[in-house]
Amino acid sequence: MSEEIEDHRLFNHSENEPFSSVLERRIARRSVLRGGLGVAAATMLGGFGLAGCSSDSDGDDDDGDMAAAMMLAFEAIAGSQQDAVVVPGATAQDDAAVGAGMAAAVAASGYTAQVVVPWGTPITSDGAPWRADLAFTPSIQENAVGMHHDGMWHFPISEETASSNFIFALNNEYIDQLALFATNPGGLPTGYARDADGNVDYQGGGRDADEVRTEINAHGVTIVELRRGDDGQWSHVMDSTYNRRFTSATPMNLSGPVAGSDYVKTAYSPTGTETRGTNNNCANGYTPWGTYLTCEENWPNVFRKDEGRENDDNRLGIPSGGTRYYWEAPAGDASEVDGEFARFNATPSADDATGDYRNEPRTFGYIVEIDPYTNTRAVKRTALGRFRHEGCWVGKLVEGEPVVFYSGHDSRNEYIYKYVSDAMWDPSDANRTDMTRSDRLAIGDKYMDSGTLYAARFNADGSGAWLPLTPETMVPDGSQTLAAALGLEPGDLAGVIINTCDAADIMGATPMDRPEWGAVDPTSGEVYMTLTNNSDRTAEGTDPTYTNGGTSDDELGVGFSKAPVNAANPRPNNSDGQVIRWREPTPGETTFDWEIFVFGKVPSTDDENISGLSDQNYFSSCDGLWYDDRGDGNGILWIETDTGGTDYTNDQVLAVVPQGLNKGDSGAVVNESNQSQLKRFAVGPNGCEVTGIFATPDRTALFINIQHPSNWPADDSVNEQDATAVTSGEVRPRASTVVIQKSDGGQIAV
Ligand code: FEO
Ligand code: CA
Ligand code: CA
Repeated sequence: MSEEIEDHRLFNHSENEPFSSVLERRIARRSVLRGGLGVAAATMLGGFGLAGCSSDSDGDDDDGDMAAAMMLAFEAIAGSQQDAVVVPGATAQDDAAVGAGMAAAVAASGYTAQVVVPWGTPITSDGAPWRADLAFTPSIQENAVGMHHDGMWHFPISEETASSNFIFALNNEYIDQLALFATNPGGLPTGYARDADGNVDYQGGGRDADEVRTEINAHGVTIVELRRGDDGQWSHVMDSTYNRRFTSATPMNLSGPVAGSDYVKTAYSPTGTETRGTNNNCANGYTPWGTYLTCEENWPNVFRKDEGRENDDNRLGIPSGGTRYYWEAPAGDASEVDGEFARFNATPSADDATGDYRNEPRTFGYIVEIDPYTNTRAVKRTALGRFRHEGCWVGKLVEGEPVVFYSGHDSRNEYIYKYVSDAMWDPSDANRTDMTRSDRLAIGDKYMDSGTLYAARFNADGSGAWLPLTPETMVPDGSQTLAAALGLEPGDLAGVIINTCDAADIMGATPMDRPEWGAVDPTSGEVYMTLTNNSDRTAEGTDPTYTNGGTSDDELGVGFSKAPVNAANPRPNNSDGQVIRWREPTPGETTFDWEIFVFGKVPSTDDENISGLSDQNYFSSCDGLWYDDRGDGNGILWIETDTGGTDYTNDQVLAVVPQGLNKGDSGAVVNESNQSQLKRFAVGPNGCEVTGIFATPDRTALFINIQHPSNWPADDSVNEQDATAVTSGEVRPRASTVVIQKSDGGQIAV
């Protein structure tokens, strides 16, 4: 989700090392290591160690002596600003092609792009066929694809058909109320009005209960079977036994250290073991045992807490006085069931927590595991921490070593985390193509309910440390335990998790430029993560400032509204973002080496063009990320953006082969001499962000998501159509998945 649309509140209050001179120290270190390479910023941040750096012996860019690195075999496309998706070799189709419903003729060497499962597509016969003037009800939306597509993944139904028929899991992050209620009088939700400037505001007179239920049902996760036909076109399988929706109202289980604790007891679940709904599901992950991970990001804004606020409410930004969509407004409606609306107001109203919903927000902020194959409940894995989780990515798997997951907190000056399982990896637990098994969530219990959560510290010398967030950990000055520093009882792991962000402050984690997606190279184990931008990153030497009236970093629940540059986040008022990369000796290690893989830059910003970007790859605000392993140690790192559009192009997809940057030197980073290997592959329609990404196992189909387009897809009367068709006139916009395929049926990008 873009910052323009959702202000990512930033509440990190810590005064962790501002690293005011770290960039210079790191430049100096690289200069020494590389002797003779000079101190240009573009080169100083490159390469894990000497061996990789020196492998490009002739220092040129001809790659003539590269033996193994894969190369990208498409021409970078130009930037685009139109109501259409653009892919290499395809020409935008006119309206005539749209009615045919399919991606039409493209250049022989080009690519097609097809719209699949746009918002509102019915997945069961209990729903309603999509049409441009369809009036949504709670039932219609609950039986249809949700809104604002984000993270997604695929789950094979059989090994043989894994690239042409699979269960598709899709996050539906948030909603556009105007599109959802476009058929209402005035095109507005009931109780809303436009002011003189055209802004739409809630009028405060109460909300229609069914409209709220419809909004709730447009959120969450869509599970739907997809199939590629003999003609190469994709469609969904109506009424598949796998099809189902998880919404912001679906009953779910809590698991791990927080489950059953006093922190999560509510009137709905006095035992603190259940809750309803998953919300604002942004990026995703998957497990080696065949389950989907959906991640709760900007969930705090659907709750309010007007009184009785505690540290975590302030730190995570639970609003007071109102909520994002006013889902609490119909509370007390005659049709309300089990406080379905009242639960969004967490202000205490009863004698104790089992009589109200003061703890409802504490049942959100987690990684949620879903078994897409069975009709089981989703499980919130509390051991992986509680914050605004962008996503969750499994690390390199090594038999007999812990299973690790990486996750970032997407808010300005927040942290990167790593979870390390207590259980050691047993490869026999990886069995995702066995459709008969029903124990996937039990395997999840084994690896994801018991382990240690760490936060990342990025040192100025290119080293890093994972800082354990356990009650017994001693704080950095050795004066007390982390539990004591947080004001908790000894051994209160649930309390540490509820207060994950404050725990990370105290331990000295490094405030980052809004961590978004991660990606893992399964061969090297290297981890990449996008840091999208940070308007609250201040210049070297400035003092940090705090929100919520806080004045110091030993005050809990305050938040770090502005933090000065540090080594990993070296640009003040960072508009364009960067991709960071780190490498650990083994998955369970608590140390790592890191570097910046590429710095974003577009012509219109003041940011320094450290990576030497050019017309074929200018990008800003990297967000989505996927390491597309192609074997032999090669892979494509796909980078997606969420700028809300720049002066140069709409949001886009770029590709780079890390191993191809410097003649097989996997330690190389993008710089002025090799950035021609970073290529723009696709551009989205006006107003959108491009997010979510995977390819079929045979790599012949690349799936991306177009979220919040302003006037696309071109024909609002059909479900499957050419994504490259330019819209004429105005349509009811629909977020959608787009499948990109090569017209000759070959592998994408090579
Ligand atoms: Fe939902 Fe951080 O993007
Ligand atoms: Ca995102
Ligand atoms: Ca974003």
